[in-house]
Amino acid sequence: MRDLHSKRVRSVERSPFYVIWDYARELGFTDTIYLNLGEPDFETPEHIRKAAKEAIDGGYTHYTGDRGYNDLRSAISEHLKDTRGIDVDPEDGVIVTSGGAEGNWCAFMGILNPGDEILVPSPFYPGHKIQIGLTGGIPITVPLNEEEGFVWSKEDVEEKITKKTKAMLICSPNNPTGGVFTRKCLNELSEIATEHNLVVISDEVYYAMTYGDTEFVSISSIPGMAERTLITNSFSKTYAMTGWRVGYIAGNSELVKDLLKVHYASTINAPSIAQKAALAALTGPQDCVGEMRKAYTERRERLIEGLKTMVGVKCTPPNGAFYAFPDISEFGLNSWDFSKLLIREAHVVTVPGGGFGPKWDGHIRISYANSIENVEKAVERISTTLSGIHRK
Ligand SMILES: Cc1ncc(COP(=O)(O)O)c(C=O)c1O
Repeated sequence: MRDLHSKRVRSVERSPFYVIWDYARELGFTDTIYLNLGEPDFETPEHIRKAAKEAIDGGYTHYTGDRGYNDLRSAISEHLKDTRGIDVDPEDGVIVTSGGAEGNWCAFMGILNPGDEILVPSPFYPGHKIQIGLTGGIPITVPLNEEEGFVWSKEDVEEKITKKTKAMLICSPNNPTGGVFTRKCLNELSEIATEHNLVVISDEVYYAMTYGDTEFVSISSIPGMAERTLITNSFSKTYAMTGWRVGYIAGNSELVKDLLKVHYASTINAPSIAQKAALAALTGPQDCVGEMRKAYTERRERLIEGLKTMVGVKCTPPNGAFYAFPDISEFGLNSWDFSKLLIREAHVVTVPGGGFGPKWDGHIRISYANSIENVEKAVERISTTLSGIHRK
């Protein structure tokens, strides 16, 4: 029978976040704790909501021009100067997108020809893998080194480079591991990217979430790298604005300009009201970001401490984002069976590591973007469930 779908759409899989979510919802327990979501549980701060209400009443309800509002692009350019030390032309070097997701889509569509290879971290964020797959580009996975805090080693990256390698995707702080690339690691990657003339796509949606002494470094700020780096970023995580769908892609004008075609074909422009809210987010008081980070720090500690006490669970402490990615291989179950068991027995939803690449079927991703009470309750329930399971 004729397949009514394209080969492209057949070639990619549905995101594991939703597959496991559907499983939990079908079971229908009323006390389930959802630690599968990469979504801040906080309300969008009040001054940002206020700006959106004013935008509606002020008539900002039309198309905005494909690049996005001028004042927002100027604020983004200034923000990048302040935080990364780079000069980005607000006119041709910034496109306001519908979330980081659309920024990534523009980057992959704009850079990759079918058959071009792009180095991606393993474990990977499924959104990246699906988008690259839809472009016809080939994601080449380079393992993140767990013992070193989930960073890339120079040797592992170099080994995967071929004549077809066109780009390198950096996702730091990382989803799903919480790993953060160090300056040393980024310096080495810069050398490789320069030597092989690669475009670097740097997904920085978790840039505001690092813990302890860990510093966030954007590869764009390493000398010589701004010319070849496309930064994709978002207001979703930093300002608890996932539903607003606003983010951006920024970098060298020569790289960014042509991506407008993809952006136009995808969404025409990012939502006008959300853009006004994003402007308030970037130019308004930043205490809310610090407060949320403080809350994540506390939840992270509770989760890590809790995981440490569970016999059979090994967890490399995550330095950024809001995920832990513990190794549960000692229990002898694959990650899907393990996650499903946690839903049935503990009423806690996590994401199976296998959804981030086959190599990671002995891990699960736990999000701590949830209240401290829920994180504590979940730790207790997981602990009780695991104490009743035989290990290998
Ligand atoms: C690494 C990464 N990039 C991009 C996104 C997309 O986020 P948004 O489109 O809401 O900015 C996510 C969402 O979870 C993510 O984890």
